[in-house]
Amino acid sequence: MKANLFFAAAITLVMLSGCTGNKENAVQTSKAVTFDEVLATRRSVRSYDASKTISEAEVRELLVATQEAPSWANQQPSKYYVAMSPEKVEAVSNLVGERNKQNIAGAPVLIVCTYEKGKSGFFQGQQTNEIGDGWGAYDNGLSNAYFILAARAKGYDTLIMGMRDSDELRKLFNIPANEEVMAVISLGYRASEPNQPTHRPLDEIAQFS
Ligand SMILES: Cc1cc2nc3c(=O)[nH]c(=O)nc-3n(C[C@H](O)[C@H](O)[C@H](O)COP(=O)(O)O)c2cc1C
Repeated sequence: MKANLFFAAAITLVMLSGCTGNKENAVQTSKAVTFDEVLATRRSVRSYDASKTISEAEVRELLVATQEAPSWANQQPSKYYVAMSPEKVEAVSNLVGERNKQNIAGAPVLIVCTYEKGKSGFFQGQQTNEIGDGWGAYDNGLSNAYFILAARAKGYDTLIMGMRDSDELRKLFNIPANEEVMAVISLGYRASEPNQPTHRPLDEIAQFS
């Protein structure tokens, strides 16, 4: 309850602290958005309004939100390669498979997410437990979750893509070998309302004892 209130307050602050995006796309414009509203309206968007742009300053605000995410021993292994120029966006969109490419057409920003290996899940160079670099992937997912929720709170839409050519993305951005290439995230504005996914019954995924 306390944590939920804190998050709602944090998102309220984010909303009030100067959203420079297309205001009509914000979850709510006249009053602060609640965390529940962010959760309910954040969906994977596969249809983008190509007439709307996003500035580097706006993307920076969202990346600052990722820095609030927890990480193993505060290792902060996540890194982001932001494609914003039309040429770079086109180059990245050619590396996410044909279906994804069609679905993200018109999204003005594509972000390649990586994590630095050998940090999360390691202590003095030694793997701490059986998960190993899986903790880096875990931390990257957490950071990305902050990104997509902060994005929704400010009225943007996203699609996380695990279908991508990591080798070619590595070459495109000169990503060093000590980083694992994870998802590509599109950032833009929905052109139509996204599908609502079905969710498994809670009792299938949680046990109480
Ligand atoms: C790690 C990961 C990889 C994904 N890869 C793709 C992808 O390549 N293409 C796609 O259309 N959606 C992809 N998705 C989106 C999921 O299909 C989507 O999150 C899921 O269907 C639930 O829908 P929702 O995001 O609207 O709640 C991915 C999501 C995650 C978390």
